[in-house]
Amino acid sequence: MSAPCEIWGELDPRSYPIRIGAGLLELVGTCCAERGLCGRCLVVADENTAPLFAATVLHSLERAGFSPALKTLPAGEETKGLATLVELYDALLAHGMDRKSFVVALGGGVVGDLAGYAAATFLRGISFVQVPTTLLAMVDSSVGGKTGINLPQGKNLVGAFHQPQAVLIDLAALGSLPPREYRAGLAEVIKYGLICDAGFLDWLDRELERVDRAPQDLNDSARRDSTQQLLSAMVARCCEIKAEVVGRDECEGGLRAILNFGHTVGHGIENSAGYGVYLHGEAVAVGMRFAVRAAVRSGLLPESESERIDRLLRGLHLPLHAPGCDWDSVRRAMTADKKTVGGMLKFVLIGPAGCARTGCELPEAWLEELWHGLGE
Ligand SMILES: NC(=O)c1ccc[n+]([C@@H]2O[C@H](COP(=O)([O-])OP(=O)(O)OC[C@H]3O[C@@H](n4cnc5c(N)ncnc54)[C@H](O)[C@@H]3O)[C@@H](O)[C@H]2O)c1
Ligand SMILES: [Zn+2]
Repeated sequence: MSAPCEIWGELDPRSYPIRIGAGLLELVGTCCAERGLCGRCLVVADENTAPLFAATVLHSLERAGFSPALKTLPAGEETKGLATLVELYDALLAHGMDRKSFVVALGGGVVGDLAGYAAATFLRGISFVQVPTTLLAMVDSSVGGKTGINLPQGKNLVGAFHQPQAVLIDLAALGSLPPREYRAGLAEVIKYGLICDAGFLDWLDRELERVDRAPQDLNDSARRDSTQQLLSAMVARCCEIKAEVVGRDECEGGLRAILNFGHTVGHGIENSAGYGVYLHGEAVAVGMRFAVRAAVRSGLLPESESERIDRLLRGLHLPLHAPGCDWDSVRRAMTADKKTVGGMLKFVLIGPAGCARTGCELPEAWLEELWHGLGE
């Protein structure tokens, strides 16, 4: 097993370690102790992550002297709502949690956002630790301190910024992740390269095949070590970029908007298709392809970048377009999105590769042409 890698989310005085390695679930207890946490804690998992990982995490916490309890929730986006939030408050009270107690979020972004929001609001805020188990949660949702829940009227309408005490990323968890979920997370990985680091994008391009089959290789003893190193390098670079962007703009006033690259069209696709038809990362993949083509058309990127994103998306089995979504409904959904300002669509574009620009406007006539161009 390679030594864990550590990055710091620099938000003085609320800086926190992001540890990345294989076998870290067994170290959750010692890490919580190092962070000065004590007493009771509630481990929140879902019906998929609890049977896979909860026993290891609970034992680790017990060994380190904590009194953990487990709350298991149904899996899926529907869980991230008010009814489950109330269930979490009930569980926190039933287990006698006080202001010194803490929450451990053990799962994907759904568990992380919901458990994080419960921690942000219970007794006006208690500590929490993120133990992300999907690739999307490892590279995106667990870092940055955004927590929240959905309302019947829309996604993420209630939330709070609440930074974790630590983020513990056990790469071995990816060995059980369904391939479709893994690939959806890879869309966000590509995003970091496109917006911030052209060298990382070149690396991904070179390592495409190994990245694609990494979850299977984790379960192959001959390839496990080298695959852990590959995943560690990949996840660490994403966390570094996210932590740096958030460190410079915690509450989404400016720079943080670059993280929405590919998300304008991505959200349009998710909304118009109905949630669950496309996974978030799949919709973002199509949105990034749209945005790269828009940048090429604007003269910001050479045509070769359009070919590169197609190669990356194809190589990682991500969609290139969104069959079944018609332009009018995607366009309507984009206008309704909370990120539009005064009805005018703003895009994040890149140019040159690895360098994002926010607040870009595109001629209306281009939008439909670019959309139809995706399906060719
Ligand atoms: N807070 C943020 O900054 C932020 C950023 C991006 C996304 N999000 C949120 O994240 C959520 C999506 O997160 P997600 O994609 O992780 O989805 P998810 O939490 O629903 O997890 C996807 C599926 O994988 C299962 N699973 C998780 N880990 C597993 C493992 N190791 N092995 C087997 N199965 C496993 C889960 O039970 C679930 O069925 C959305 O609600 C989105 O709004 C938040
Ligand atoms: Zn996203």
